[in-house]
Amino acid sequence: MTFKLQWRGDKWPGDMQLGEKIAYSGKMEANVPSCVACHGPSGVGVKPGIPRLAGQNAAYLVNQMKSWKEDTRPAGAMAIMGPIAKSLSDEEIKAVSDYFASLGTPVAQKTA
Ligand code: HEC
Repeated sequence: MTFKLQWRGDKWPGDMQLGEKIAYSGKMEANVPSCVACHGPSGVGVKPGIPRLAGQNAAYLVNQMKSWKEDTRPAGAMAIMGPIAKSLSDEEIKAVSDYFASLGTPVAQKTA
Protein backbone atom coordinates (compact mmCIF):
# COMPACT_ATOMS: atom_id res chain seq x y z
CA MET A 1 0.00 0.00 0.00
CA THR A 2 1.42 3.36 -0.95
CA PHE A 3 0.83 6.13 1.50
CA LYS A 4 0.67 9.62 0.08
CA LEU A 5 0.78 12.51 2.51
CA GLN A 6 -2.13 14.83 1.90
CA TRP A 7 -3.31 18.08 3.37
CA ARG A 8 -6.65 18.11 1.63
CA GLY A 9 -7.05 14.99 -0.43
CA ASP A 10 -6.87 14.81 -4.18
CA LYS A 11 -10.57 15.23 -4.79
CA TRP A 12 -13.06 18.03 -4.48
CA PRO A 13 -14.82 17.93 -1.10
CA GLY A 14 -18.12 17.32 -2.91
CA ASP A 15 -16.70 14.08 -4.29
CA MET A 16 -15.50 12.78 -0.93
CA GLN A 17 -17.23 10.38 1.43
CA LEU A 18 -18.28 11.93 4.76
CA GLY A 19 -15.23 10.88 6.81
CA GLU A 20 -12.68 12.01 4.26
CA LYS A 21 -14.52 15.28 3.79
CA ILE A 22 -14.41 16.07 7.51
CA ALA A 23 -10.72 15.12 7.67
CA TYR A 24 -9.75 17.52 4.89
CA SER A 25 -12.32 20.28 5.03
CA GLY A 26 -13.84 20.08 8.51
CA LYS A 27 -17.46 20.94 9.20
CA MET A 28 -17.66 24.56 8.33
CA GLU A 29 -21.24 25.15 9.45
CA ALA A 30 -20.22 24.13 13.00
CA ASN A 31 -16.86 25.96 12.99
CA VAL A 32 -14.91 22.70 12.98
CA PRO A 33 -11.59 23.13 11.16
CA SER A 34 -10.14 20.33 9.09
CA CYS A 35 -8.52 17.63 11.22
CA VAL A 36 -5.34 17.70 9.10
CA ALA A 37 -4.88 21.42 9.85
CA CYS A 38 -3.67 20.39 13.31
CA HIS A 39 -2.97 16.67 13.06
CA GLY A 40 -0.62 17.08 10.10
CA PRO A 41 -0.92 15.87 6.52
CA SER A 42 -3.02 12.70 6.40
CA GLY A 43 -3.23 12.91 10.21
CA VAL A 44 0.33 11.68 10.82
CA GLY A 45 0.56 13.80 13.97
CA VAL A 46 2.66 16.81 14.91
CA LYS A 47 5.11 16.54 17.76
CA PRO A 48 4.81 17.48 20.49
CA GLY A 49 1.24 17.26 21.58
CA ILE A 50 -0.88 16.49 18.54
CA PRO A 51 -1.29 12.73 18.23
CA ARG A 52 -1.32 10.68 15.05
CA LEU A 53 -4.72 9.65 13.74
CA ALA A 54 -3.59 7.88 10.55
CA GLY A 55 -3.65 4.12 10.96
CA GLN A 56 -5.03 4.33 14.49
CA ASN A 57 -7.68 1.83 15.47
CA ALA A 58 -11.12 3.21 14.53
CA ALA A 59 -12.83 2.13 17.74
CA TYR A 60 -10.07 3.80 19.75
CA LEU A 61 -10.57 7.08 17.88
CA VAL A 62 -14.35 6.91 18.33
CA ASN A 63 -13.92 6.29 22.06
CA GLN A 64 -11.58 9.25 22.52
CA MET A 65 -14.02 11.62 20.84
CA LYS A 66 -17.03 10.19 22.67
CA SER A 67 -15.27 10.67 25.99
CA TRP A 68 -14.67 14.33 25.16
CA LYS A 69 -18.29 14.63 24.13
CA GLU A 70 -19.33 13.21 27.50
CA ASP A 71 -16.69 15.19 29.45
CA THR A 72 -15.00 12.05 30.74
CA ARG A 73 -11.62 12.78 29.12
CA PRO A 74 -9.75 15.87 30.43
CA ALA A 75 -9.93 18.85 28.09
CA GLY A 76 -6.22 18.56 27.34
CA ALA A 77 -3.98 20.72 25.22
CA MET A 78 -5.62 24.09 24.56
CA ALA A 79 -9.02 22.46 25.34
CA ILE A 80 -9.49 22.05 21.62
CA MET A 81 -10.93 18.60 21.12
CA GLY A 82 -13.93 18.91 23.46
CA PRO A 83 -15.70 21.54 21.37
CA ILE A 84 -14.75 19.71 18.18
CA ALA A 85 -16.12 16.37 19.40
CA LYS A 86 -19.29 18.07 20.62
CA SER A 87 -19.82 19.62 17.19
CA LEU A 88 -19.76 16.27 15.43
CA SER A 89 -22.62 13.77 15.34
CA ASP A 90 -21.99 10.14 16.29
CA GLU A 91 -22.25 9.30 12.61
CA GLU A 92 -19.62 11.89 11.70
CA ILE A 93 -17.29 10.70 14.47
CA LYS A 94 -17.60 7.14 13.18
CA ALA A 95 -17.02 8.21 9.58
CA VAL A 96 -13.93 10.31 10.25
CA SER A 97 -12.49 7.62 12.57
CA ASP A 98 -12.99 4.95 9.90
CA TYR A 99 -11.33 7.22 7.37
CA PHE A 100 -8.18 7.81 9.42
CA ALA A 101 -8.03 4.14 10.40
CA SER A 102 -8.21 3.17 6.73
CA LEU A 103 -5.03 5.10 5.93
CA GLY A 104 -2.77 2.50 7.50
CA THR A 105 0.68 3.25 8.83
CA PRO A 106 2.52 6.09 7.14
CA VAL A 107 5.98 5.55 5.72
CA ALA A 108 7.00 9.13 6.46
CA GLN A 109 8.14 8.94 10.05
CA LYS A 110 10.31 11.29 11.98
CA THR A 111 13.32 9.35 13.17
CA ALA A 112 15.26 12.13 14.86
C1 HEC B 1 -7.07 23.18 16.37
C2 HEC B 1 -6.28 21.94 16.36
C3 HEC B 1 -7.02 20.62 16.21
C4 HEC B 1 -7.95 20.29 15.27
C5 HEC B 1 -8.55 21.15 14.18
C6 HEC B 1 -8.29 18.90 15.50
N1 HEC B 1 -7.56 18.40 16.54
FE1 HEC B 1 -7.70 16.51 17.31
N2 HEC B 1 -6.35 17.01 18.75
C7 HEC B 1 -5.73 18.24 18.90
C8 HEC B 1 -4.89 18.21 20.07
C9 HEC B 1 -4.05 19.37 20.59
C10 HEC B 1 -5.02 16.92 20.64
C11 HEC B 1 -4.38 16.38 21.92
C12 HEC B 1 -5.32 16.66 23.06
C13 HEC B 1 -4.97 15.92 24.32
O1 HEC B 1 -4.16 15.00 24.28
O2 HEC B 1 -5.53 16.25 25.37
C14 HEC B 1 -5.94 16.19 19.77
C15 HEC B 1 -6.33 14.88 19.98
C16 HEC B 1 -7.20 14.16 19.20
C17 HEC B 1 -7.60 12.78 19.41
C18 HEC B 1 -7.11 11.87 20.52
C19 HEC B 1 -6.04 10.96 19.98
C20 HEC B 1 -5.34 10.17 21.04
O3 HEC B 1 -4.57 9.26 20.67
O4 HEC B 1 -5.51 10.45 22.22
C21 HEC B 1 -8.47 12.45 18.43
C22 HEC B 1 -9.16 11.13 18.23
C23 HEC B 1 -8.61 13.62 17.58
N3 HEC B 1 -7.84 14.64 18.08
C24 HEC B 1 -9.41 13.66 16.45
C25 HEC B 1 -9.59 14.80 15.68
C26 HEC B 1 -10.48 14.84 14.53
C27 HEC B 1 -11.27 13.67 14.00
C28 HEC B 1 -10.44 16.12 14.07
C29 HEC B 1 -11.23 16.71 12.93
C30 HEC B 1 -12.68 16.67 13.05
C31 HEC B 1 -9.52 16.86 14.91
N4 HEC B 1 -9.01 16.02 15.87
C32 HEC B 1 -9.21 18.20 14.76
C33 HEC B 1 -5.88 19.33 18.08
C34 HEC B 1 -6.77 19.42 17.01
